[in-house]
Amino acid sequence: MAATSEAIHQMLCSAGRSTSHMDLYPKKSNFLVWPNHGLGYRSKSSRHKSSNTISAFHCGPNFNIRFRSLRCKCSQVESVTDAISEKKDPLKGELFANGNGTFSSILQIGSISSLEDEAWELLRASMVYYCGHPVGTIAANDPSDSSILNYDQVFIRDFIPSGIAFLLKGEYDIVRNFILHTLQLQSWEKTMDCHSPGQGLMPASFKVRTVPLDGDDSATEDILDPDFGEAAIGRVAPVDSGLWWIILLRAYGKCTGDLSVQERVDVQTGIKMILKLCLADGFDMFPTLLVTDGSCMIDRRMGIHGHPLEIQALFYSALLSAKEMLTREDASADLITALNNRLVALSFHVREYYWIDMRKLNEIYRYKTEEYSFDAVNKFNIYPDQIPPWLVEWMPNKGGYMIGNLQPAHMDFRFFSLGNLWSIVSSLATNDQSHAILDLCEAKWADLVGDMPLKICYPALDGQEWRIITGSDPKNTPWSYHNGGSWPTLLWQLTVASIKMNRPEIARNAVKVAESRISRDKWPEYYDTKRGRFIGKQSRLFQTWSIAGYVVAKQLLDNPDAAKILVNVEDTELVNAFSCMISANPRRKRPRKGTNQSFII
Ligand code: GLC
Repeated sequence: MAATSEAIHQMLCSAGRSTSHMDLYPKKSNFLVWPNHGLGYRSKSSRHKSSNTISAFHCGPNFNIRFRSLRCKCSQVESVTDAISEKKDPLKGELFANGNGTFSSILQIGSISSLEDEAWELLRASMVYYCGHPVGTIAANDPSDSSILNYDQVFIRDFIPSGIAFLLKGEYDIVRNFILHTLQLQSWEKTMDCHSPGQGLMPASFKVRTVPLDGDDSATEDILDPDFGEAAIGRVAPVDSGLWWIILLRAYGKCTGDLSVQERVDVQTGIKMILKLCLADGFDMFPTLLVTDGSCMIDRRMGIHGHPLEIQALFYSALLSAKEMLTREDASADLITALNNRLVALSFHVREYYWIDMRKLNEIYRYKTEEYSFDAVNKFNIYPDQIPPWLVEWMPNKGGYMIGNLQPAHMDFRFFSLGNLWSIVSSLATNDQSHAILDLCEAKWADLVGDMPLKICYPALDGQEWRIITGSDPKNTPWSYHNGGSWPTLLWQLTVASIKMNRPEIARNAVKVAESRISRDKWPEYYDTKRGRFIGKQSRLFQTWSIAGYVVAKQLLDNPDAAKILVNVEDTELVNAFSCMISANPRRKRPRKGTNQSFII
């Protein structure tokens, strides 16, 4: 198939996706773009020659993974190692090239003045470069680890605290580059065993590979290689990636005051593609997003399929953020209506049915079951026997939380930290519920913070339940990893939530606990045991989001006002629609036929 590169470029731009490298890095090297429709535009050049080729190729199982990469010819082969020695900084100690565009450094920790300085040095050492420009941070930079798996990649969710740290430091380029490059990956052709997931999907992670340039041994090119879950352990779908991307995009605009990025046509298209994917009609009866197990921070089987709280809180936050950012010209009236309706229904559903405290628990304890009617109180047919014995003891008199998941005849009563904290940050929880969640965190400090903040969920699954729900996962044994492990990265979300509710002392106390050992322990990914006393069994050291989570917590505690870039304030239009909905709630009184209201805003 013959076409000119200009024609392809125009076609892509008119489809709303910018493909020009020039947009990102003016006057920089060429790169390769593979748009969705199966046409590839490949442009490569070296000092000695320059050629443009356009090729048609097929998607499907035989689709060559190489061709799905974003390329940029950027340096001579021999200069890769030169670059390492050039970049060696005597102050930073020994440097290791990990072959992924990053430089890891083993710091002489004793020589660094403060914990924050040390964290910054480590964070900078985790930066990943593409064509000489910073585009992200690798997941872990642990030189003692022989099996890196995919920890040498830039994970979208892991980069969020790094991105916030850089924004708050006034270093905007890395965040802008990250946003725009991941956007380009969004439109990649992606397949798993002949099946293509939805177009708006953002990758879980990407990797920068430096390879010799085809046909030119003297030059190399950088390749951005995304993973949409098709290579991930368990082939989990990264549902949270696109939601976090929208949240970071908004934070970028708020922090820099530069709205030109979010207003770009390709960025607006990216937002809409994510929304389209999330708002698509399906068989769902609930406004919550239906996902498979392992589709968020907990990216393995842990019994969180269905409607896990973390996804709902991120979804709500992303919807509100998108509503703020969509330009009038770009957003269709239908999309805005669908978005508003979903926001109202989602907040009603979660506030009403996920919320649990002493009063609600007692109500569930006395539930009647098998209620066939529109007026059912126990709408989801929850059998009171489902209330786990630990919860009867654990629920404090003052405080409450959002349960982990809700499905027909099923409530997952586990406390999931990220979902609860982000419900506060996004205003998915009401003001009273938000305070009550923080009250619970204080009342259950020993369980949730213990010797290292913060438990990913409480309590752990064990015995037969662990065998059935995790499939006897040896990595998720009780009080380890995703099954009740303690994750220092969660400090930053705790900090945003407690600042939003004007209770920063909660975060300050948690930071103190972390500071007492996190550097000595070499910034682990997670801790094990009921109180988080041990470094996790298979925990990586120098885990970037543990480092960045600490940095962001410190930055925000020093400048609480900056938390605004992440907080979603409750929309007054939604509050009004919500109160209409509450008064029409059949639990209270079902309106007579014909009086049903529509909440199109
Ligand atoms: C683990 C975590 C996941 C994280 C990844 C990289 O798989 O569960 O949330 O993104 O490591 O750090």
